[in-house]
Amino acid sequence: MSAHAADEQSLDAVLGRVAENFGTPAFVYLTDAIEQRLAELRAGLGRWFSFSYAAKANPNPELLRWLASRVETIDVSSLGEFRLARAAGWAPERASFTGPGKRDVEIEEAMADGLGELVVESVREAVVADRVARALGRVQDVLVRLSPSRIPKGFGDHMAGRPSPFGLDIESVAEELPRILSLGHLRVVGFHVYSGTQCLKPEAICENYRIFLETFRTVCVDFGLTPQRLVFGSGLGIPYHPADNGLDLAQVAGGVAPDLEAFIADPRFQQTSLTLELGRFLVGEAGYFLTRIISVKESRGSRIGICVGGMNNHRPASGHVGMVIHRNYRMHRVGGGESSEKIDLVGPLCTSIDRLARGVVLPRLEEGDLVAIHGSGAYGLTASPLHFISHPLPREVLVEGDRLRDATRALSFDDVRAPSTP
Ligand SMILES: Cc1ncc(COP(=O)(O)O)c(C=O)c1O
Repeated sequence: MSAHAADEQSLDAVLGRVAENFGTPAFVYLTDAIEQRLAELRAGLGRWFSFSYAAKANPNPELLRWLASRVETIDVSSLGEFRLARAAGWAPERASFTGPGKRDVEIEEAMADGLGELVVESVREAVVADRVARALGRVQDVLVRLSPSRIPKGFGDHMAGRPSPFGLDIESVAEELPRILSLGHLRVVGFHVYSGTQCLKPEAICENYRIFLETFRTVCVDFGLTPQRLVFGSGLGIPYHPADNGLDLAQVAGGVAPDLEAFIADPRFQQTSLTLELGRFLVGEAGYFLTRIISVKESRGSRIGICVGGMNNHRPASGHVGMVIHRNYRMHRVGGGESSEKIDLVGPLCTSIDRLARGVVLPRLEEGDLVAIHGSGAYGLTASPLHFISHPLPREVLVEGDRLRDATRALSFDDVRAPSTP
């Protein structure tokens, strides 16, 4: 048996145990795979970067707890994520807080709790943070988010290079940054750029990092700043679809090495720590969505498998996040078999947009069979309309070695209910 087939068998054994012990639908997160990914990141890019986990990718409490002793820092984008990170054991000073629409109350609570770095995205936000810091009697460390004027082709989402709510447009920095720098209760300790996600092209990622370096250098030189920290939004993508090739991290590292080496050799940046902020590349491929076929219908020449969980649990796989034309995610039948038959896979919702696969070729599927959708560790459950048509919420299971742990989160947002004030 090939190593690959053996791996598939042991994966299926785990997925089968999850279905048996916890039921379906379920998200399954394999910590060994995250550990391996982290080792690859450290081997490839750890010479230059520390790593910050973007909680938005998957804020599962058990996963956050597991990551807390393995990744240096965490980036949150709401008070809800901040509270989840705190409850999972992350010290507040290890957190940064990004997001274009932070409410005053979110800034107040995070800062009062000792937030490490507030990533300010506008002058307005800086003014609020300065007022809060003054009231707390302290000076708050901030990173200023910058929005470069361009981003290379090849990213799944472009957050710069066009009108964008994220950060200070580089064209406005000369006017806006002095206003932030003049605020007495903020200390600008560095800058942050996150301009693109989900890229599988090493050269585009390298080119984007060169744009970041140029942006950081220009702003620091123009304002005479020696930053403590510069955050690079990684943009590292994962292969969601069968035709996608996984990213070659060695190619990214090799391509950007001369630029990073030249940058850190500059006396202005010798004391600067560089951080790579990322979510999906770390946890995405370590997760599977496990759904079970309730029934199979033959309809007008097509075979349709109707599953216990579909778009309501996993909207990205149904093609309604970041895809213009639906392409099937990578998936397999748990238990293997020869891929021989085309089938459409749909969820239980009363809408034709609830479709997990169109014409996917898998082993013949029958009622009761399990299908595992790959690339589901990031932007799965929390990017989905879970309450639509009130089906049961999916289970979540953290797999550590042989151990399966129920990691199903409580989905009560009572503690982060929108306050009545902005
Ligand atoms: C500010 C910021 N940080 C981090 C991320 C994580 O991106 P990814 O999961 O693609 O690494 C995003 C994604 O939108 C983001 O907007």
